[in-house]
Amino acid sequence: MKPFLKWAGGKYRLTERIKSVLPQGSRLIEPFVGSGAVFLNTNYSANLLADSNPDLINLFRFLQKEGQGFIQFCSQLFTPENNTETAFYELRDEFNKTNDLRKKAALFVYLNRHCFNGLCRYNSKGGFNVPYGKYSKPALPEKEMFYFHEKAQHAIFEVADFKSTMNKAQPGDVVYCDPPYVPLSATSSFTSYAKGGFGLDEQHAPPRALER
Ligand SMILES: C[S@@+](CC[C@H](N)C(=O)[O-])C[C@H]1O[C@@H](n2cnc3c(N)ncnc32)[C@H](O)[C@@H]1O
Repeated sequence: MKPFLKWAGGKYRLTERIKSVLPQGSRLIEPFVGSGAVFLNTNYSANLLADSNPDLINLFRFLQKEGQGFIQFCSQLFTPENNTETAFYELRDEFNKTNDLRKKAALFVYLNRHCFNGLCRYNSKGGFNVPYGKYSKPALPEKEMFYFHEKAQHAIFEVADFKSTMNKAQPGDVVYCDPPYVPLSATSSFTSYAKGGFGLDEQHAPPRALER
């Protein structure tokens, strides 16, 4: 099943190949879960799914808990009136200002489908800053969201840096790591899934769990 979020570096098209090399295990750990393509297309009985992006994990938790009720709530944002440049920037502003986590989670789905290429990028103050995508009729991926909700009943979602997630690995766990790509050059980097980014130091960082 396709993830319900568009996500840079998402591995949906590679899931069959990835599955063919993943071993059996008691629990899947994904320190860089992103859209969850691998989790959604495997069947581990337990899943520890983490990412450093708090907006992503906040959304996953609402969908996990509420399912159809939350999907219905999101659907109110998917109207022709909300698919204009003016409405997009107003709703993006609301996303950046609100303290209502449920509204923020729904707006994150809206932004993902209405912004340019479904990118997720933040400015230095942590504000989401991807421009309007100009799609003719963005649709709420209801079927994919409900599938995610059902699978998520066997998952724990955490906002965490990958090093702390790696340190939770136990014998018998399967760890699938999909970090941001190494930028090809200083100017070509797309590493802004969350405030702070992911640079060369993180690419080289030896997680303590792997040093044992
Ligand atoms: C290539 S994407 C993962 C894509 C995912 N496998 C999928 O199929 O959608 C990399 C992810 O790493 C997350 N990330 C970046 N820096 C991180 C860090 N220091 N610790 C944990 N996650 C991080 C990003 O938010 C992004 O979701």
